[in-house]
Amino acid sequence: MTASHTVLDVHLTDADAEAALRWDAWVGLTARPKQLPPKWFYDARGSELFEQITELPEYYPTRTERALLHEHAPEIAAVAAAAGVDTLVELGSGSSEKTRLLLDALSAAGTCRRYVPQDVSESALRGAVDALLDDYPDLAVHGVVGDFTRHLGLLPAEGRRLVAFLGGTIGNLQPAERAAFLVVARAAMRPGEYLLLGAGLVTDPAVLVAAYDDAAGVTAEFNRNVLAVLNRQLGAEFDLDDFDHVAHWDADNEWIEMRLRARRLMTVRVRELELEVPFAAGEEMRTEISAKFRPEGLRAEVTAAGFEPVRFWTDPDDRFALSLWKAA
Ligand code: AVJ
Repeated sequence: MTASHTVLDVHLTDADAEAALRWDAWVGLTARPKQLPPKWFYDARGSELFEQITELPEYYPTRTERALLHEHAPEIAAVAAAAGVDTLVELGSGSSEKTRLLLDALSAAGTCRRYVPQDVSESALRGAVDALLDDYPDLAVHGVVGDFTRHLGLLPAEGRRLVAFLGGTIGNLQPAERAAFLVVARAAMRPGEYLLLGAGLVTDPAVLVAAYDDAAGVTAEFNRNVLAVLNRQLGAEFDLDDFDHVAHWDADNEWIEMRLRARRLMTVRVRELELEVPFAAGEEMRTEISAKFRPEGLRAEVTAAGFEPVRFWTDPDDRFALSLWKAA
């Protein structure tokens, strides 16, 4: 069901996504060390596995951020209402599950006219939009299928916006990509608009590693799923059983690195790239970084991009930060 006040812009077509995957796979599989960008985890199966991860006992970020949103949404909405914000934009909105806390608070503050969810997954976006429309019949929803590293300049500009980037997804970007993301996001906003950022904090390495290497093996399956995506989309011939899941805390860079470690010497064909990829036994390929922040470091990065700090909240264990910034 899609109501008449719902619009869906598609900036990322299947053909475009496939070309981007070919590019990333060719560059990453021929690099030393090998690497693949984390966005390719999220086909339908990968998105489903990620939803399962968010419910694991070891994976604290989602529930910690949800508690912070629950506690502080009224204050966020009060700041937004005072500034005349009437539009919530969400980058990487996924299932839009936590978004309801914000929509409810904004509605209560009388300042919720429009919701603009943006995600790379058209299926996730359509599902989220349909579910929301039932519960928020008066909300205008303008969905955008796009990639937050490429399509920020195409975000709808209607209304005065609060841009939410939640879940700690900013940590998936390399430091230089992160700086670029913040500058490009700032350029896409008008002075007086707001950014709401969720970011994981540096904490006990044992807690961090467990969150990315759960006992039930769901994260391992999520990690190997990227190989299934390459098999299906690019005619690759990976045997998922040939790879072990690795979650490594890089103390120098302060990020969790997920890797896939080859269990044996092998050569993997990727038919559609005309590529034969050699793996040494024990060779590790990086599939994700998930950077964790220190509050002062995050503040330096975000203010350097032209935002002013407004609020900064953390949970009692200091594992996650929810922060509000104003475009200067
Ligand atoms: C959705 C990108 C924030 O980095 O914690 C979960 C993805 N990877 N378990 C994260 C993820 C492994 C997650 N983000």
